[in-house]
Amino acid sequence: MDRIKILVTGGAGYIGSHAVVELYEAGFQPVIIDNFVNSQESALRGVEEILGVKVPFHRIDCNDLEAMRAVFAEEGSLRGVIHFAAYKAVGESVQKPLEYYQNNVGSLLTLLQVMREFGVEALVFSSSCTVYGVPDALPVTEQTPTKKANSPYGATKQMCEDILRDVAAAPDASLRTILLRYFNPIGAHPSAKIGELPLGVPQNLIPYVTQTAAGIREKLTIYGNTYDTPDGTNIRDYVHVVDLAKAHVVAVQRLLDAQAERVETFNVGTGRGNSVLEVVQAFERATGQKLNYVIGPPRAGDVPAIYADVTKSTQELHFQTTSTLEEALSSAWKWQLSLGA
Ligand code: WQD
Repeated sequence: MDRIKILVTGGAGYIGSHAVVELYEAGFQPVIIDNFVNSQESALRGVEEILGVKVPFHRIDCNDLEAMRAVFAEEGSLRGVIHFAAYKAVGESVQKPLEYYQNNVGSLLTLLQVMREFGVEALVFSSSCTVYGVPDALPVTEQTPTKKANSPYGATKQMCEDILRDVAAAPDASLRTILLRYFNPIGAHPSAKIGELPLGVPQNLIPYVTQTAAGIREKLTIYGNTYDTPDGTNIRDYVHVVDLAKAHVVAVQRLLDAQAERVETFNVGTGRGNSVLEVVQAFERATGQKLNYVIGPPRAGDVPAIYADVTKSTQELHFQTTSTLEEALSSAWKWQLSLGA
């Protein structure tokens, strides 16, 4: 039987490449679009080594309407789309707001236009826990009201969610969409053939930790230890990227089975909050590496604490966390070592 074709924008990126592997292993035929603006071709080789097959790939920009039309026409029978492609650095978005709005919002509009033209109805969208801003109460559920975003990046995710709700609610709409609000994805595929590949100095905690342990960075700076949390450092919900990738497969299937409402929103986290110091200690325990770190000033825009209520995704997406924080960190370390540190 022919595999059902799913377009994966940003399929060479960190989460995208893991989702491509899980989609293929679940029996789908992923088709990748990427422009390598924040990803590398080596991810496609990693995917191929894991799966033992080449995944169809188109090097295009999702903002390029004609190129998008050409891909939809050439692929013929796309049944759904997972839209990962976006800029994602919170700090950079403050420096380059126009680029962020243009790329993140513009690419979604282009994609929706082409999906409508070609009658493709199912869309899984990469949203983010940044839409909650600084929450009043924890954990956050999907009903927790969103607040003004702390950055243009967060604002693009809120806008994209609004656009999708409006488009799906139009009387003649055919779009059905699942918004996955990711918490902090970490870790790498157990094969260590794909993982997070930050360009330049990492902005996110885990690649900074693994690069410090590998001797590429001198020391980790923990951004503040006087927050109103038990040990004074920020609390986040760190979810293994393979678990997160699997949530996309279930979401796609749910849309294709037409079980879903027109728009559904799910938190994808573990339901556990861990402080930065706990992450450092867990990394040391999991890998036997001693981590050089100092306490620095707080980073602008950081939310003191956020973690997910995952009741809805557990019940309706059958989402499961299959690994502990230590296991996720040890997979990130294995990946770092595979890069030849
Ligand atoms: C985690 C914690 C830092 C680096 C943001 C977005 C989210 C997602 C990822 C897309 C924080 C601390 C970090 C360092 C540190 N989006 N830290 N020293 O900010 O929670 O999430 O990026 O990619 O949508 O909101 O992730 O990994 O940057 O930080 O102490 O060198 O680690 O202060 O508490 P964040 P992060």
